[in-house]
Amino acid sequence: MAFTPENLLLANEIVARYPKTKSAILPLAHLAQDQDGYLTQDAMREIAGMIGVTPAEVLGTCSFYTMFKRDEVGRLVVSVCTNVTCLVMGGPEVLEHLEQRYASDKEVTIEEVECLAACGNAPAMQVNYEFHESLTPGSATEIIEAYKAGELTARGVSGGVAGGGQG
Ligand code: FES
Repeated sequence: MAFTPENLLLANEIVARYPKTKSAILPLAHLAQDQDGYLTQDAMREIAGMIGVTPAEVLGTCSFYTMFKRDEVGRLVVSVCTNVTCLVMGGPEVLEHLEQRYASDKEVTIEEVECLAACGNAPAMQVNYEFHESLTPGSATEIIEAYKAGELTARGVSGGVAGGGQG
C-alpha cells in the first residue's frame, strides 16, 4: 500500500473530482510526493490502479515535470539555474559551491535546472520552489543555512501543498 489510510481517503476524493479519472494523475502524484518526499514505485503503481492506466503511463506523465522526484531527496531541494543569463552572472559558481558544501548533507539536495524565469535578478535559485535571486556563493549558502536553522520556513518538496512559505 503506497498511500497512508488518511491519504488514501484524500486520494479517492481527488479522483472523484474529475470526470476523467486519468486527469487526477498530477494531484495524486503531488499527494504521494508530499507523503514520501519523492514519487516511489509503489505510489506510481497505486496511482495507476486508481485511475485505470499502467504504471508506465504514470511514470511517463510525471517524468515530464522536474518537480516530481523519482529518487529520495533531502528536506530542502535547492534548484540552481545555470541557463544563459545565470550562466554569465555566476550561476555555475553558485552551483559548484553549493554542490561541494552540501555533498554529504542528507538534508539538502542540490540540483541544476533550466531557466527559472527570474533572469532579471540572475543568478537565481529556488529552495523548495521559493525564489531567491541576485545570488553569490556566499549569499546562497546563508539562505540555505537560514532554512536549516528554521529562520526561513520551507514548503513541502512539491512546492506548497504542505504549506509554509517564507517565515
Ligand atoms: S537564466 Fe536563470 S532565471 Fe532565467
